[in-house]
Amino acid sequence: MQRLTIDLGKRSYDILIGSGIRNRGGEFLKTVLNPSRVVVVTHPSINRLYGEEVAASFVAQGWATDIIEVPEGESAKNLSQAEKLYDRLLELQCDRKSALVALGGGVIGDLAGFVAATYQRGIPFMQMPTTLLSQVDSSVGGKTAVNHPKGKNIIGAFYQPRMVVADLETLKTLSPKEYRAGLAEIVKYGVISDAKLFEFLETHDKKILNRDHECLSHIVETSCAIKSAVIEKDEREIHYRMILNFGHTLGHAIESLTDYSRFTHGEAVAIGMVRAAELSCSMGKCSKDVPKRLGALLKKLGLPIEMPELDSAAVIESLYHDKKTTDHKIKFVLVKKIGSIEIVDHIPEAEILKVL
Ligand code: GLY
Repeated sequence: MQRLTIDLGKRSYDILIGSGIRNRGGEFLKTVLNPSRVVVVTHPSINRLYGEEVAASFVAQGWATDIIEVPEGESAKNLSQAEKLYDRLLELQCDRKSALVALGGGVIGDLAGFVAATYQRGIPFMQMPTTLLSQVDSSVGGKTAVNHPKGKNIIGAFYQPRMVVADLETLKTLSPKEYRAGLAEIVKYGVISDAKLFEFLETHDKKILNRDHECLSHIVETSCAIKSAVIEKDEREIHYRMILNFGHTLGHAIESLTDYSRFTHGEAVAIGMVRAAELSCSMGKCSKDVPKRLGALLKKLGLPIEMPELDSAAVIESLYHDKKTTDHKIKFVLVKKIGSIEIVDHIPEAEILKVL
């Protein structure tokens, strides 16, 4: 098992990565917390697979434990679902010492984290991510949120978990599409800060697609270490944390203009990263080799790289609604070379239009 510590002073916590560690959640949590009770929030399908054994690990510590199911999918990440969770927590007489455990992917982590951040002004929570995307990205760094009809993650809080327990075995049951969505974020880490990770992905694509344990362990741990280092520098995304949004500016626009149904988040980010690299190249920030290598790697990993047919004006309009856009200036994370990026605070529309 690997242990990484994310150093945020009083809000520091460990990220544990290993195989078959989901049924040790209680043992791990006990090292940082003695909750009055535990509530596991999960989806029905995850509950069927892992709910019982995960809950048993908390019961084994002598903690009263309940499981609450929420419906699957991004559409369940809303205020009315959060309200249902508050109702259940009140019924269970949860107090400020009760702990929430988010067992699932990004939707569960964001929703349970948001409820933990707001129930009785904040109760402790633990992330047990079961998808590749949540293990390498959303479970780390304390972004919690629900969606608003006008946009994704509009209502939320920065609220750090007390611990992250990522069991690599849970990745075995992911659909290929869901698995590849996580790979896009790992490629992102290579581009933004680790040329060696990028080369590793280039040379181990088959093993990675076969979900080879050693490879998975290496890429999940490296990704979490990169993300932790970014969060330690800029927890609340004042500026530097924006590097984690490489490829996301256009990715979010693509997702929203295709009604969140045509592409997974990872697929949209893959397309967005290639466009961002093309933009970097056309603005003279990097050589032509960068978008070429990036596109080739994403393609090998089974991710889309071509921009779908979308109205360019609608894409630009959508960029103005990005949470990073302030003072009507579209920000972009551009790449200088693999492993090195630059945040540019104002990209003129005309530059973006060139690469759409
Ligand atoms: N997923 C981007 C971030 O956590 O900042």
